[in-house]
Amino acid sequence: MTGPTSSQKGPLASLRSAFERLKVTPVKDKAEEILRRVTGIYETIRDTQDDYQYITDQLALLATSVFKGLVGNEKLSEELRKALDGLSRTCLDIQAELDKHMQKKVNERAVEAPELMQRLQKTLSTQLQHLTFLGFVDYMRYRAVGAIASPADLGRLRPPPKPAIFYGRDELVQSIVDLLLHEETCRIPLLGMGGIGKTSTVATVLHDDRVKAKFGEHMFFLSCEGIVSASGVLLALASALGLQHENGVEKALSDFFTKHKYVLLVLDNLETVWNADDESQVEKVLAECANTGTVSLVITMRGTIRPGGVDWSDTILDPLDPLPLEAARLMWKKLARKTDSRLDELLKLLDGIPLDDSD
Ligand SMILES: Nc1ncnc2c1ncn2[C@@H]1O[C@H](COP(=O)(O)OP(=O)(O)OP(=O)(O)O)[C@@H](O)[C@H]1O
Ligand SMILES: [Mg+2]
Repeated sequence: MTGPTSSQKGPLASLRSAFERLKVTPVKDKAEEILRRVTGIYETIRDTQDDYQYITDQLALLATSVFKGLVGNEKLSEELRKALDGLSRTCLDIQAELDKHMQKKVNERAVEAPELMQRLQKTLSTQLQHLTFLGFVDYMRYRAVGAIASPADLGRLRPPPKPAIFYGRDELVQSIVDLLLHEETCRIPLLGMGGIGKTSTVATVLHDDRVKAKFGEHMFFLSCEGIVSASGVLLALASALGLQHENGVEKALSDFFTKHKYVLLVLDNLETVWNADDESQVEKVLAECANTGTVSLVITMRGTIRPGGVDWSDTILDPLDPLPLEAARLMWKKLARKTDSRLDELLKLLDGIPLDDSD
């Protein structure tokens, strides 16, 4: 079995680790067959730039849920065998459809892809219903892998606390607040090196009273750390919001977002997804969020490159500058609670990067 590619890391890695936790041999044999098939499906789509990732991720998540449900089972009952056979057949069906599809020319594939995705989505949905009907994976009802909603986990989307110490970025904070308070939506990229203050800036903005009054409960802050695909971002959002998504996660999110007049979505540390997945997929997801019409989007990303495909608000395009000397001096004094005659020298050496010495 070949090792995972970067875009496979998330769901496929979870599937592998769920498999490794299985102890009972008869279950393990069958599970191994499923694991092989799901891995094969990932291999099939590996070199395409197309939009099959969502389906394969969903399949991997479904299989992961089944494996986790098997952990405590001592023997392979008839019911279990049937369920595993069903899942294994679903893998075969999906593989066969994808194989046929991948043999076509690129332009034919592009035309066929939406319909194929719908068909595969339906196959997965049927499989999920079948497993749920059998009842042995009851708890899947609480997982965001298909037709049934999970309870919302809004805590995952709660904005970080207001930074206790925050100097020297009043102008930047003010311009972001101004953009967010406009009637029309905005799209703001906060770029810059690690530790420069992107998250602290957003956190300060999210605690502005006027911003809170406008967006209320509909301010969502997703940390992308640990998310390794664009579809993972969508799944994480849908799952935290407790949305049903049997008709596709994009649709579920877009229905949810358009129901509210003002939504603020922050994707923090988006570079983790950007570096792990196909960039065009990330751009597509951002464009979908931005085009919802009610969503103001803020991303934070290390580096200087912002994703394309989004009409970013042009007042804030440059990466964050290092802190001015006076702000860095104040911050240092507050953190260190002492002064030093060579402080300015040190701060110049640090180039205004606000290092946190509390860790
Ligand atoms: N303007 C500021 N005043 C005081 N402290 C700050 C300021 N900006 C950042 N800090 C402190 O510096 C540390 C790093 O800031 P922050 O986490 O916001 O950086 P970041 O750009 O989001 O980094 P990363 O790319 O790693 O996510 C934090 O401990 C934060 O409290
Ligand atoms: Mg940050």
